[in-house]
Amino acid sequence: MMVNRELRVQKIRDGVVIDHLRAGTALKILEMLGITGKEGYIITIAMNVPSQKLGTKDIIKIEGRYLSPSEVSKIALIAPRATLNIIKDYQVMKKERLTLPDEIVGIIRCSNPTCITNHEPQIQSKFRVVSREPLKIKCEYCETVMGQEEIAKRLS
Ligand code: CTP
Ligand code: ZN
Repeated sequence: MMVNRELRVQKIRDGVVIDHLRAGTALKILEMLGITGKEGYIITIAMNVPSQKLGTKDIIKIEGRYLSPSEVSKIALIAPRATLNIIKDYQVMKKERLTLPDEIVGIIRCSNPTCITNHEPQIQSKFRVVSREPLKIKCEYCETVMGQEEIAKRLS
């Protein structure tokens, strides 16, 4: 019989649990969300914990805060296989397995300084996903191809 000897991280009452993050990416995700810790939310970060599916994974739990659709899209770009759990009164009310869309509108700035999307504020950036692993996206306007590192630097 399996005995759960230790509870590594406590369950939360209300908030969001971002689960199945690639090991080592939790801090980057928080940074991208603009969460510094000074906001006062109770945040639990677990890094490099054992996972059935991933070997090891990171988890972020934020109490009393939920995520906007654009924040969810940004997480999907950095952590395409993360699971988002919305917790209400200790129950998982909603579980969303993030997936990367085929097309990404807004959110990312094109890395080409001469791209029209960097000069015409009324034109939204638009990228097509040309490869998922490793992640590569291509600008619909200037055809510049960007990889994971560049994407992470250019989330707006
Ligand atoms: N969780 C939490 N507080 C709660 C409920 C759940 O922090 N009140 C966390 C769990 O610790 C887990 C995640 O939210 O990291 C998802 O919970 P649950 O769906 O119960 O776990 P699993 O079935 O293992 O999820 P999955 O199938 O997505 O792996
Ligand atoms: Zn471009």
